[in-house]
This record gives sequence, C-alpha cells and structure tokens, in this order.
Amino acid sequence: MTYECITTRTEGDKVAIITLNRPKALNALNDQLMDELGAALKGFDADPAIGCIVLTGSEKAFAAGADITAMAKFTFADAYKGDFITRNWETIRNIRKPVIAAVSGFALGGGCELAMMCDFIIAADNAKFGQPEIKLGIIPGAGGTQRLPRAVGKSKAMDMALTGRMMDATEAERAGLVSRVVPLDKLQEETLGAALQICAFSQVAVMAAKESVNRAFEGTLADGIVFERRLFHALFATADQKEGMDAFVNKRPAEFQHR
Ligand code: CAA
Repeated sequence: MTYECITTRTEGDKVAIITLNRPKALNALNDQLMDELGAALKGFDADPAIGCIVLTGSEKAFAAGADITAMAKFTFADAYKGDFITRNWETIRNIRKPVIAAVSGFALGGGCELAMMCDFIIAADNAKFGQPEIKLGIIPGAGGTQRLPRAVGKSKAMDMALTGRMMDATEAERAGLVSRVVPLDKLQEETLGAALQICAFSQVAVMAAKESVNRAFEGTLADGIVFERRLFHALFATADQKEGMDAFVNKRPAEFQHR
C-alpha cells in the first residue's frame, strides 16, 4: 500500500518507524491519515521480523490534533456516521507489539490522545502537550478525558481540559505523562535505542508485559493481579525463560529464541 500522509521505514530490520507526514497542517489527523496509520500498524504488528514500532512526527509537530478544516462544517450526523477520526483507534489499542511515541513539538488534541495511546512517550525538550478542544467549542473525542486523568491525575487533567493550556516537556515528565525527556537532537537516537533494547528481549515476555500493564487501566486491582500471575506462571513454559535464567546463572548474555 502506498501512503500519502505517513511514511514508514525499518531500522536494523527489527524496528518499524512510522512518521506522520502532513507538514503543511502540522500533521493534523484526518481520516486518510488515520486509515493509513491503522493499516501500517496492523502490517507491522503482523510482520514476524518486527519487534517494536515507533510513532513519530516532525520537529515542529507530532500532531496538532484532529483536522479542524475537515470537521468545521460537520453536523452531528456526519461526525457520528463517519466515526470521524476515531474509527481507527480500536485498531491502535489492539496492536500487541510495543508502540513508542517519539514526540517533538506540538501534541495537541487528537495528537496528545494518539501519543497517550502508545505504550510510552519519549519527549523532546521542545514538546508541548495539550487538550485545547474546549477553545473550539468541543471536548476531546479520542480518549483524552479518560487517559489524561489516568496519566496525570484529576486536577491537572481538568486544568488541561477546561483551560486548554499546554504543558511543556518538563511538566509532562513531572506529571508522569512522558517517561523521558531528551534534547531534540537526541530524540530519534534515544527512541531507537529503547526500541532496539526491547527487540533484544523475548518477544513473548515483552507482549505479556504490555498486556499485563494495560490491564492496570482496565479492571480492578484484584483482577489485574490474577491476570499478571497467570501470565507470569505461563512464561515458565517458554524456552526463553530457561535461556534468560540460565544465562544469568552462568554469567553470559542471553540469546532469546523468540525475538
Ligand atoms: N487542523 C487543521 N489545520 C491545522 C491544525 C489542525 N488541528 N493545526 C494547525 N493547522 C494548520 C494551520 O491552519 C496552518 O495552516 P495554513 O498555513 O494553511 O494557515 C498550519 O497548520 C500551521 O499552523 P499555524 O500557522 O497555526 O502555526 P503556529 O505555529 O502559529 O501555531 C498551533 C501552532 C498552536 C499548534 C496552532 O496551529 C493551533 O492551535 N492548532 C490547533 C490545535 C487544536 O486546536 N487541536 C485540537 C483539534 S480538535 C481535536 O483534536 C479533537 C479530538 O480530540 C479528536
């Protein structure tokens, strides 16, 4: 499939890099971009060679939100019937391999929501996060009111959603929205490093860890603990567990089978 709103490439044959590419509109998300993103993510998720996916934008913008020009004249029926922008979000949620967001510049509205749907966010020091939908007479529509409070707590999430103000990278890291902040010129290198590190581990264990952490946001603590325990015990059935522990005991690097 040829893409117009994104580009894709692989690094070291293991890491897939998807770059949002609508520079004139600061990577504003429209249906075409989201359809292409959904297709690319599904393709890489199904590709046995790929161990980790990186989603990124430009230096100026990860994504400045849903495309306001595209939706300005929408009626309720248009938005509802077309499931504007949000129709691919379940696809993203169902990707089983790790997806890292490498964010520089603006991550606003749907852009912030897209970054939050990734498994973790590495931010450049020029990153700015926000849910400015209130300024347009709407509210976040792709999980912002749900994921932001889970990430940064109620008070800060309310502040962001009700005033529409932006959070810089330092505040975002302090609040727990992003896992690391790095200088802009180190963003790609740092993210690729993290992705390659993940690819070197047992893919079965990596996917199980992702599935288990995600449970923490979707159910009760008691259910999450049981889920984690079942996966933890199940991993003892893998050759990679034998290899990982034998390598540790014998003071040698592990060579995992499932990578
Ligand atoms: N949709 C469509 N076009 C956008 C856009 C968006 N979300 N954001 C920026 N653009 C376009 C601008 O219209 C402009 O196009 P032209 O050159 O043709 O005029 C171009 O990108 C560059 O933008 P600016 O000139 O505004 O750049 P700036 O540096 O002065 O400001 C900005 C940058 C602060 C990000 C500003 O562009 C802005 O506020 N954008 C809108 C952000 C926003 O409101 N996002 C939420 C959208 S709603 C949503 O996302 C709903 C949801 O939950 C799914």
